[in-house]
Amino acid sequence: MEKAIEVKGLRKSFKDTEVLKGVDFEVKRGEIFALLGSNGAGKTTIVKILSTLLKHDGGIATVGGFDVSSKPDSVRQSISLTGQFAAVDEMLTGRENLIMIAKLRHLPHPSQVADDLLKRFGLTDAADRKASSYSGGMRRRLDIAMSLIGKPQLIFLDEPTTGLDPEARIETWKTVKELADGGTTVFLTTQYLDEAEQLADQIAILHEGRIIASGTLEELKKLFPPAKVEYVEKQPTLEEIFLAIIGKKEEM
Ligand SMILES: Nc1ncnc2c1ncn2[C@@H]1O[C@H](COP(=O)(O)OP(=O)(O)OP(=O)(O)O)[C@@H](O)[C@H]1O
Ligand SMILES: [Mg+2]
Repeated sequence: MEKAIEVKGLRKSFKDTEVLKGVDFEVKRGEIFALLGSNGAGKTTIVKILSTLLKHDGGIATVGGFDVSSKPDSVRQSISLTGQFAAVDEMLTGRENLIMIAKLRHLPHPSQVADDLLKRFGLTDAADRKASSYSGGMRRRLDIAMSLIGKPQLIFLDEPTTGLDPEARIETWKTVKELADGGTTVFLTTQYLDEAEQLADQIAILHEGRIIASGTLEELKKLFPPAKVEYVEKQPTLEEIFLAIIGKKEEM
């Protein structure tokens, strides 16, 4: 099984608003896949459908080879979700949050699991403080640590670095790369184009209900008209490519 996620003709409306109008993409096992899109493009909606939290209206979505509609339990067992808004329990300490999840997942040594993750995410010193006292970056790190419990094959990270300072963003990027190196498939959404540039093996741009461009960064760069004669060759940034593609579509 090579494909971690397969989405074909995916449609979803909320009342009269059609948010997804036939979305198609595939995510290969072990890759980092970045879904880009402006506010309200439907990124979180896709994450919710793929993680079985929301039903779609049409099309097909499979995760780990399981259909999200007919095999939601199998899908849930193979994934982990870090939502756009942290799932951390503020009243518990960092360590208690981790132990709670390890117990919920029926792991044999919950304290050991918690200690290992606290160390890995630089939270050992803050381990016994209530999460309500954590900074945004610490909370995000705890959130990601929680989502790694039980070694999921596939992890969804919905805007993992929104609101983080540059240092915490770089740290999160490092973690995501390590995860992928360890064989975990990473599906991430972001509005930060440099984040996709840094991390993603494959990038897909969601705009007005459809994937309007996808490929590696190199492939997307080719869609961008090459610069005319300049003294210094300048590579387009993903931001320029993104804006050019969206602008192009709107003219059609
Ligand atoms: N439960 C809901 N009921 C009605 N409309 C919804 C619901 N959930 C999402 N929407 C609408 O669907 C559209 C897509 O929302 P979604 O949260 O998927 O966007 P997003 O790409 O994740 O945006 P952001 O970058 O702001 O997180 C928006 O117009 C939103 O208002
Ligand atoms: Mg969102």
